[in-house]
Amino acid sequence: MPTPPLSNEPWDEHLIRYGMAFAPSLVAKARGTLLWDTEGKEILDFTSGQMCATIGHNHPRIVAAIREACEGALHLFSGMLSPPVVALSQRLAGMLPPRLSKSLFLSTGGEANEAAIKLAKMYTGEFEVVGFTGSWHGMTSGAQSVNYVAGRKGYGPMMPGSLALPAPNAYHCPVRHCRDACDGTCLEIGFDMVDAQSTGSLAAIIAEPVESSGGVIVPPDGYWRKVKQHCDKRGMLLIFDEAQTAFGRFGRDFAFQHFGVEPDILTLSKTLGGGLPLSATVVSDEIEAACHAKGYMHVTSHVSDPLPAHVALAVLDVLAEEGLNARALEMGKHLAAGLHYLKDKHEIIGDVRGFGLLQGVELVKDRETRAPDTATGRAITTRCMELGLSMNIVSVGVMSAIWRIAPPLTVSKAEIDRGIAILDQAIGEVLAQGRSVAAQ
Ligand SMILES: Cc1ncc(COP(=O)(O)O)c(C=O)c1O
Repeated sequence: MPTPPLSNEPWDEHLIRYGMAFAPSLVAKARGTLLWDTEGKEILDFTSGQMCATIGHNHPRIVAAIREACEGALHLFSGMLSPPVVALSQRLAGMLPPRLSKSLFLSTGGEANEAAIKLAKMYTGEFEVVGFTGSWHGMTSGAQSVNYVAGRKGYGPMMPGSLALPAPNAYHCPVRHCRDACDGTCLEIGFDMVDAQSTGSLAAIIAEPVESSGGVIVPPDGYWRKVKQHCDKRGMLLIFDEAQTAFGRFGRDFAFQHFGVEPDILTLSKTLGGGLPLSATVVSDEIEAACHAKGYMHVTSHVSDPLPAHVALAVLDVLAEEGLNARALEMGKHLAAGLHYLKDKHEIIGDVRGFGLLQGVELVKDRETRAPDTATGRAITTRCMELGLSMNIVSVGVMSAIWRIAPPLTVSKAEIDRGIAILDQAIGEVLAQGRSVAAQ
């Protein structure tokens, strides 16, 4: 039984508000694609928790792995290794190209990116790190410095040498040049700007292969190859942050396999631990050896912890045994079809885009200007929750309001259909009240 709160509402009386509004009820139980609040109300989870529960909430294999880990060791001195940690390093090396052979296991995505940025700086001897507008890489200072979607304001200077490239957003072209198909002009302009601003110390680019919080931005064909060429020309390393895209959501173990570009450094997080905090930074033997020789240090209290590694091995087993890569593509098609049906029906939906089981739905005041309708989007999101569907609306500056829809890869067609029906009803009801009411 879950521990009941000590008193009734407001539940957040003793909690710091950390960014997003708290959901209206307390969640007591989670299984697969479903959640139940303390009143027993069932909620469909189309966000996979915070994008981590890719194999479904409380998968029996995760629960079993946690129990097994309790028979072994949960946590150790940071200099001690354990069988699950060694096995996970070997397992990842077996799944990745030979060049990505050495892993460091940490807890969160921010930490993995922090470690990656430090490796890139130490290896190249340079310090400038370039991110993409709309990117999200975490809340630790180094990672936050290359977040350009949110969370930058109010904390004083970011990490020196943080620069930005425009994300290839074809729906809202960042250089007001293309419409609906990115021809890569933004990338060339972006590198001109980076070169102009650089002090001559470019170390790395960090990027999500498909920006998620930035509005599900799928780059055009050949884009990452061009980025890699630009990196090579300048002696920069390419860091791919696959917090959300690794392990199935795009129908592959890693999204970079789809784009045909291997990063120099890969970071994995959310989807690796299946709901437990686990992240990895992966590099080549050469980078590892060079940084070790220079005294690389990234010790944390939970580096190489056995418990999450044990769980990650179970996550990788489930991915393979349940054929979740293929399932993500099949269910992604079904989800996209449902969303396109809603787009045909509701003018507020300006665009549906995505890949596999990561779909973005752009909400607009009108389809010509593409001005975001954030207020109505929020009202619909609230109504969805009342009707039993948890959705995430991401707002990218003044440019876009987007639902990022990403159910677990284990979602069924019936659950997708139910989610689409709830969305349909919620959009219809809120629009019937009028957008001005929604905005109040
Ligand atoms: C692409 C990406 N990278 C990194 C992070 C940060 O991960 P964490 O919140 O575990 O630090 C996130 C979190 O949303 C993310 O989406």
